[in-house]
Amino acid sequence: MDSALRIALQKSGRLNEGALYLFKECGLEFQNGVGSRLLRCEAVNFPVEFLFLRDDDIPAYVQDGVVDAGVVGLNVVRERACRVEVADELGFGKCRLVLAVFKGAPYKCVRDLAGKRIATSYPRILKTYLDEKEIVAEIHQISGSVEIAPGIGLADAICDIVSTGSTLVANGLREIETVLHSQAVLVVQPHLPASKQALLARLRFRMQAVRRAGHTKYILLNAPNSRLGEIIGLLPACKSPTVLPLALEGWSSVHSVVEEDRFWEIIEKLKQAGAEGILVVPIEKMVI
Ligand code: PRP
Ligand code: ZN
Repeated sequence: MDSALRIALQKSGRLNEGALYLFKECGLEFQNGVGSRLLRCEAVNFPVEFLFLRDDDIPAYVQDGVVDAGVVGLNVVRERACRVEVADELGFGKCRLVLAVFKGAPYKCVRDLAGKRIATSYPRILKTYLDEKEIVAEIHQISGSVEIAPGIGLADAICDIVSTGSTLVANGLREIETVLHSQAVLVVQPHLPASKQALLARLRFRMQAVRRAGHTKYILLNAPNSRLGEIIGLLPACKSPTVLPLALEGWSSVHSVVEEDRFWEIIEKLKQAGAEGILVVPIEKMVI
């Protein structure tokens, strides 16, 4: 399968599940399922093969053309500084790289860390950040359990990933600055041959449809014809809402799509405008 697309995914860890879910929703099927021990598997209904790798290695594999693309955290992409194209943000695995200090420490912002020691697994990103702010600090590189560093006298501050924030709290730390916002991204080898670019375009088209559907809802409601104009004005839609007459004289059924984050605000206004029988249903795929 020379011409199949090769995509690297995280072997285990926070992004693995989200990536597998996304590709499953894209309709990809695998002969023996995707197990935790299989480090390589081919889809049976699309020319794509997945390789399960350590996330730190993914940017270099993509850069060197060992794989055509990969799903990895933007934090890893930036730290590795490989020549890869960030093609899409995938909307899951959201986290931040932050500077944090002991709760009782006198440091309020990054300027207060001049001349201090900062422990991190992200020395490159941190160095760039400090250079931009013209702050000189001592960067102490460690590869994990970074939050322990201030407690054992190894550092005055840390620069590490925060997702829920519970690790910071558990270690008596508080954040003082956000260095980078991160999430899962699709990275692509910059010089893909045309045949692979075409395959990737097909897959990205599906991924975008799944993503779009994920934050959009389908809404159906009944509206008195006398207030139809007002109600339609409240509804955004792909083109314009669908309006169908109800069997009941003077009423119509209106169908549209709404963004999940505007959902409650719109529902309240619709009710005030006289809408009844409002149904909101999930959308599985959305192609526009
Ligand atoms: C990551 C990160 C933080 C923690 C943040 O560590 O380095 O320590 O998760 O998550 P939270 O905000 O939800 O608590 P990970 O579990 O990957 O372990 P490691 O840093 O020791 O590799
Ligand atoms: Zn950690």
